[in-house]
Amino acid sequence: QNEKDSQFIVSNWAKDHYHKLLLNTDEGQSIGLSYLRQRGLNQTTIQTFELGYSLDQWDDLLKAAQKEGFEAKYLEKTGLTIIREDEQGKDSGRRYDRFRGRVMFPIHNVSGRVIGFGARTLKANDKTAKYLNSPESEIYHKSDVLYGMYQARQAIRTEELCYLVEGYLDVLSLHQGGIKNVVASSGTSLTESQIRLISRYTDNVTVLYDGDAAGIRASLRGIDLILEGGLNVRVVLFPDGDDPDSYIRKVGDQRFKDYVDGNSQDFISFKTNLVAKEAAHDPVKKAEAIREVLQSIAKVPDPIKRQVFLQQTSGTFGIDEQVLITEYNKLVKNSS
Ligand code: CTP
Ligand code: MN
Ligand code: MN
Ligand code: MN
Ligand code: MN
Repeated sequence: QNEKDSQFIVSNWAKDHYHKLLLNTDEGQSIGLSYLRQRGLNQTTIQTFELGYSLDQWDDLLKAAQKEGFEAKYLEKTGLTIIREDEQGKDSGRRYDRFRGRVMFPIHNVSGRVIGFGARTLKANDKTAKYLNSPESEIYHKSDVLYGMYQARQAIRTEELCYLVEGYLDVLSLHQGGIKNVVASSGTSLTESQIRLISRYTDNVTVLYDGDAAGIRASLRGIDLILEGGLNVRVVLFPDGDDPDSYIRKVGDQRFKDYVDGNSQDFISFKTNLVAKEAAHDPVKKAEAIREVLQSIAKVPDPIKRQVFLQQTSGTFGIDEQVLITEYNKLVKNSS
């Protein structure tokens, strides 16, 4: 049994431990479970994603793990416990639980093995981060993982589409609402390796990021990366202040689906609408919007697709295609 196997085993055990605490203890039920219920999640979703709760104590997991006979070093390596340092910054020999008093979101790899955790605080004015995540380990590489992929991958294949959201709750609410082909980048900016992961299942991605400035910025960055990965990308913009979770809770499953269908834009329209709402009347803004779009087109590896996008852009802006191509070639030359 090698090092990695031990880390898988302890992670899986911790997932079961947190899950039992959520369902079978007074604290788990009155704090954790009631929070999840209040966020609209039902029993099926809680089971499907194996959600849990960590007790608000310093060493609940630690003690339970010792009782099970797990070696301390595996709790350490998976980041489930943290070493308490003495004044000199040296290992004091004492440990404490990383996750305390939080709702636990196990993160699975595509084979369904637990490799890490996300953990949300339930305190309204928590001074620590709203979400804590497992640190990098031999089995958990944050930048390679998409939350929910294990539960989504079948649906992504059959729908031939992957919805990409920011957060854990977005995945859970959409899945519960019947949109099962959904994964989250978990707040971190999207990586090449996450896009490669998606491309194992489909060529089509629709970005459903939060309807705020940060979400729009992340969408713009995501678009270029997805195009570079050779995938097709569309974007849905949510009303300011809403994310997919809050929006589906607000309008219901059917209206949410209608909204997504009715408001999904290809990247050319998305950038065009974003950069210049009044572009049509302002030549400076219009030129700016065109360059934005050309920049994204330059990321597309397939020359035929590039050609099609250039034609589309020419039509959208009413710019002669030859002029556009000249401009495109200039831009590519300058940026390479
Ligand atoms: N995130 C994180 N650490 C934080 C804040 C956010 O890892 N301190 C990640 C989480 O994966 C989170 C995602 O970024 O789900 C999106 O962040 P945000 O939109 O702020 O949170 P929500 O998922 O909307 O959380 P909630 O609805 O529970 O407030
Ligand atoms: Mn890696
Ligand atoms: Mn946000
Ligand atoms: Mn949210
Ligand atoms: Mn959000």
